[in-house]
Amino acid sequence: MTKSEAKERIEKLKKLIDKYRYQYHVLNKLEISEEALDSLKHELKKMEDEFPDLVTPDSPTQRVAGKPLKEFKKIRHQTKMLSLEDVFSEEEFSEWLARIKKLAPQGKFSFYAEPKFDGLALSIVYENGILKYAATRGDGETGEDVTQNVRTIESVPLSVEGNGRNGRVEVRGEALITKKNFEAINKEQKKKGGQIYANSRNLAAGSLRQLDPKITASRRLDFFSYDLLGMDFRSHSEEHKSLRELGFKTGEDLEKRCEDAEEVFRHYKKIAERREKLAYNIDGLVVSVDSNKLYKKLGVVGKTPRGAIAFKFSPREATTKVEDIVVQVGRTGALTPVAVLKPVEIGGVMVSRATLHNEDEIKRLGLKIGDSVVVGRAGDVIPDVRKVLKELRTGHEKEFHMPKHCPVCKKPIEKKEREVQAKCVNKLCPARHRENLYHFVSRKAFNIDGLGPKILDAFLDNGLIQDAADIFELKEGDIAPLERFGEKSAENIVLAIKNSRKIPLARFLYALGILHVGEETAIDLAEHFGSLDKLAEASKENLESVPNVGGVMAESVYGWFREERNKNFLKKLLRCVDIENSKKKKLGKLAGKIFVFTGEMESMSRDEAKAKVRELGGDPSETVSKNTDYVVAGSNPGSKYDKAKKLGVKIIDEKDFLKMIR
Ligand code: IVH
Repeated sequence: MTKSEAKERIEKLKKLIDKYRYQYHVLNKLEISEEALDSLKHELKKMEDEFPDLVTPDSPTQRVAGKPLKEFKKIRHQTKMLSLEDVFSEEEFSEWLARIKKLAPQGKFSFYAEPKFDGLALSIVYENGILKYAATRGDGETGEDVTQNVRTIESVPLSVEGNGRNGRVEVRGEALITKKNFEAINKEQKKKGGQIYANSRNLAAGSLRQLDPKITASRRLDFFSYDLLGMDFRSHSEEHKSLRELGFKTGEDLEKRCEDAEEVFRHYKKIAERREKLAYNIDGLVVSVDSNKLYKKLGVVGKTPRGAIAFKFSPREATTKVEDIVVQVGRTGALTPVAVLKPVEIGGVMVSRATLHNEDEIKRLGLKIGDSVVVGRAGDVIPDVRKVLKELRTGHEKEFHMPKHCPVCKKPIEKKEREVQAKCVNKLCPARHRENLYHFVSRKAFNIDGLGPKILDAFLDNGLIQDAADIFELKEGDIAPLERFGEKSAENIVLAIKNSRKIPLARFLYALGILHVGEETAIDLAEHFGSLDKLAEASKENLESVPNVGGVMAESVYGWFREERNKNFLKKLLRCVDIENSKKKKLGKLAGKIFVFTGEMESMSRDEAKAKVRELGGDPSETVSKNTDYVVAGSNPGSKYDKAKKLGVKIIDEKDFLKMIR
């Protein structure tokens, strides 16, 4: 990037970051996630590091944001409340370490690593052991007097004993709201038609800034301490010990004294793994040098101390550029536009593709090729584009139009009026065929160990297979000569294929990839008909009499078994596999009851819960309808929850469900 290009980008980034900072810190609202905002700030910081003479005093990197709200009395902090510099990787951590080592030539020192709570910083001052006042951080120099509200926080002691009784001591820490409370409060707000909070940090901030302390109390805030001013300590570890002795919470078993960088990295990984399961949100570790003398000596640059750093977890959102938009053809012919991204790390992995779902979604986002965007990744889900940063446009961005023909087989595309998804309806489309093969070997179908899309591509592209039945004819000698294969790996695959030949009827049906036949329908069909022959002969009426099978599904299944191409394929396939017929469903205590699951359960996975329902004679289903008997709502329930409410379907929680299956 040339300097003039950098200058232009920096200017635009500054404006955009400032816009979001104002929304967030002053208005208490944010259009993009904080992680995406961090990602923008990080890019700005990197560019300014590269071109230091482009740093201006008004850059967001040069100040701590947040004007105190007008309603509260202002309190000037006796000691400034600083902020921390962020690092996002071991590499950046090591760079920080190298910098401070230069300033601390006397040699070895330890670190203190603790959670970085995702809440709101507070300063609580005790005089002669009595809580005198409490203030928010504000701009670091002046905060807001929230004493009344802080007094409602049960984890904040109103008086302290021992050394805390001598003169003035100040405890600093983070006020936060647990994930459970956050969900409950938002649910309540929704019911009342009140404000919905985007995240628990906003809610904590909103709750502390209530003029009526009763409202604050009802939000049941929590407080975790991390600094103790007004007493002398040799190390941060000692400071934490003393905080606990005075009756404050600290990071408990999430904090650790570490002897070297390697130990910090190990601790970081361990905590990152536990992060999702914690009762409250943390967004990284705070790592400080564990010698207060050294901490002091290292001093402060701008608004951040040199002796501590925020070692942030990989964000689940980041900003990057859309370099192209391509169209992917799925198993059912559905066309999905996919953004080709400038590779970016999200949640610890590099991402170069993000789904755009359909043409309507591109319109909704207002996305053009060349745009800067926010990309997110949740759990195991495919990354998606969440927002277009139109302010960063250069004028060279290009409109995207959905093709009129399938990009693979070139046949015309069909889009029904009321459907959002454009489709390639050519059943012989090679792209659809390929996706069908991937589906055939997948975990819930034939589950052939080690045989994924890449290897199937190699088989197809080398002419080793034409259809799924051919997989069962493969020999070691066919596979071993392929690139990146050897005799051992060929042997393993052939063995895995052999082991998968015997298959329960339901999985076999699912593997066929019949339109609308998902995992649950396949099980219903298998249990109802018992054998493949009976199913293949079934009339449409017969099919429709199966629980959970409607007209469209019945039509699809009926049609599939009568298509010449499928009949030939089945004949060929049945020579290679051994289907275990299904037993008629036995009656159990959940017989005839239809269950739909939404959200996460604590005690078991979704698959385990469904299996339990089936075992007891019930029917797990994916969609909520008026025939659904129970919707089991775990934490973070999705749209199924709302649908159940609308239809008046009985909603039960995990506890109720456990009672039912006990
Ligand atoms: S130490 C020099 N420890 O992170 C600042 N801060 O960017 C001393 N935070 O405003 C802060 N958990 O609100 C420290 N365990 C922790 C923390 C923590 C969260 C917040 C704090 C501060 C910001 C620093």
